[in-house]
Amino acid sequence: MEILIRSTPAEVAVEAANIFAHYANAGSTLGLATGSTPVAMYKELIARYERGEVSFADSRAFLLDEYIGLERTHEQSYYSTIRREFTSHVDFNDDLVKSPAGDADDPAAAAATYDKAIRDAGGVDIQLLGIGANGHVGFNEPSSSLTSRTHVTTLHPQTVNDNSRFFDTVDEVPRFAVTQGLGTINEARRLLLLATGSNKANAVRDMVEGPLSAHCPASILQLHQHATVIVDESAASQLEDREYYIFADQHRPHRPLFS
Ligand code: F6R
Repeated sequence: MEILIRSTPAEVAVEAANIFAHYANAGSTLGLATGSTPVAMYKELIARYERGEVSFADSRAFLLDEYIGLERTHEQSYYSTIRREFTSHVDFNDDLVKSPAGDADDPAAAAATYDKAIRDAGGVDIQLLGIGANGHVGFNEPSSSLTSRTHVTTLHPQTVNDNSRFFDTVDEVPRFAVTQGLGTINEARRLLLLATGSNKANAVRDMVEGPLSAHCPASILQLHQHATVIVDESAASQLEDREYYIFADQHRPHRPLFS
């Protein structure tokens, strides 16, 4: 794992945008995430697009997950959220921005169809990830199979509570979702996980330094050959081997960050 510790969330966003822009300009298949953490990176990419520094014209995208029970036109569906926050502001072909059909009559079948669509597209070149305070990635909550494919899942009460900030009341937060499975996510050729803020510090520690465990689904990154984790100082605050990660970041022997 490459662990990059940056001073502020703004620096995390710039570093992440450097990597993501490289893939976009190469016409890659991008795995997108929603939630608060990537918003600053999306804003940075929109600014670079407006300056003519990055283009998404040759890219396609797959979202990580989608709520079950919201129309895709609902403002909190991830279908709508990613367009509002990112893809409609750049030169993405909207037809190539895909998300699981959380409003399908048969969400389990829709999940299987989505998993196949990712494979049929040749897989994801770089998958952007956030991490839940409980260690989830996508909506793979604690106890998720480490080899799962895209599937229907029940949101953890902590996730429902955390995401209630986007809704008027906690009762409006969907209880179920379709999420790429940990096995699906781990097939992306590169993983890029961002975390900022002290409420993520324990989850980041468990992901990087804890055992590989379904109790911390993000620990699946330990099995990936090219996972990059970019965190701010607050999210890095519980890392025991923090000094080594900083040293390794400054003395990178072989692989440039942008390949
Ligand atoms: C979003 C997703 C979630 C979030 C995670 C962190 O598509 O799959 O795993 O990345 O819940 O959310 P924020 O960034 O809002 O703290």
